[in-house]
Amino acid sequence: MRAVPVSDGIWWVGVIDWGLRDFHGYETPRGTTYNAYLVRGEGTWALIDTVKTPFVPELLSRVSSIIDPAEIGLIVVNHIEPDHNSGLRDVMAAMPAARVVASGSGVKGVAEYHDGLVVEAVGAADTIDLGGKTLQFMPAPMVHWPDSMFTYCPEVRTLMPNDAFGQHLASSGRFADEVGVDLAIEELGIYYANILMPLGAQVAKMVGKIADAGWDPEVIAPSHGVIWRGDALAAAYAAYARWNSGVKRDKAVVVFSTMWGSTKMLAEAITDGITAEGVEVDMYDLALTSGAHITYELLEAKALVLGSPTLHHGMLYRMAGFIQYIEGLKPVDRMVAFFGSFGWGGGAIKQMRERVTAIGLDAPLEDFSEKFKPTEEDLSAAYAWGREVGVATKAR
Ligand code: FEO
Repeated sequence: MRAVPVSDGIWWVGVIDWGLRDFHGYETPRGTTYNAYLVRGEGTWALIDTVKTPFVPELLSRVSSIIDPAEIGLIVVNHIEPDHNSGLRDVMAAMPAARVVASGSGVKGVAEYHDGLVVEAVGAADTIDLGGKTLQFMPAPMVHWPDSMFTYCPEVRTLMPNDAFGQHLASSGRFADEVGVDLAIEELGIYYANILMPLGAQVAKMVGKIADAGWDPEVIAPSHGVIWRGDALAAAYAAYARWNSGVKRDKAVVVFSTMWGSTKMLAEAITDGITAEGVEVDMYDLALTSGAHITYELLEAKALVLGSPTLHHGMLYRMAGFIQYIEGLKPVDRMVAFFGSFGWGGGAIKQMRERVTAIGLDAPLEDFSEKFKPTEEDLSAAYAWGREVGVATKAR
């Protein structure tokens, strides 16, 4: 398998996981890649990151298209999560001359994952000279694990920031401009929403530190998805700046589960009402749409509207699962409103309200509930309640 040139003396030697459809609960309909990079120095060569264990032969095949792996003198572990680190021992076996470096937290994590394996720590003060090319390092704690680290090669202005600027996107093109910048930015946003949303402050800080360090990348080569250069790189920076700032627009996301269709009927009437107020709305049935996609749609939305019928005195399990998911991602600084139908007794709305307001979302409106199948009068009331949601959304 071939390596792909990224910049002068740097090649992509990663792997494409076309079949991945779930990344720890985050649905990935377009698959992903695990990117690794080969850096040529006049004195020695470096490999930046490894891959998941089953893909090590593919990585080594791409490295071998450029150089004998045994000649690699350095392996940089930017991040210890197993999608990048589980293959480390197998890669080291093929590169016996290589020293291995990681951040201070990364050193501890490598030992934990690999039965006491000892590697060297590097930090912001360290530079490794490969001969004609140097590697600089920047710890990037909580972007998105404590061990995360960025590696920069100033001679060719190439930044390898691991998960930052990543996307779960398998493609034949290696660059954003080859697959289409709109698609790449959409996947960048899905990744940001599902991995980085609760860490926006840390992401903003790291983007600032890139500039403070005098790093001025013309190529950003992340560990997942496509590589950013030219206008696409500017678009990725602009998108990160927007999401880091928390900017939102007049948009509501209506999310529901339904048993016999009553809650769905309410959702449709409520969506109509919100639309009538000139507010953009997306409506999702949790039985049909992944939580990852809904979370992405929430990224720039001011309002979340949740609906569930009552089953066994509580909400349906899909809604409970979605709430569990966003409890971790903490989409705060948004309003939330609740609706649902019930038959012989309620309970779903109370349960949803307790769990979601505990995250920190603001619930300014009365709940909307309805018994059995909605009548035309009930649907008119749901529409009117939707208009109230629209007004409250615009007022934020
Ligand atoms: Fe792509 Fe945090 O691992």
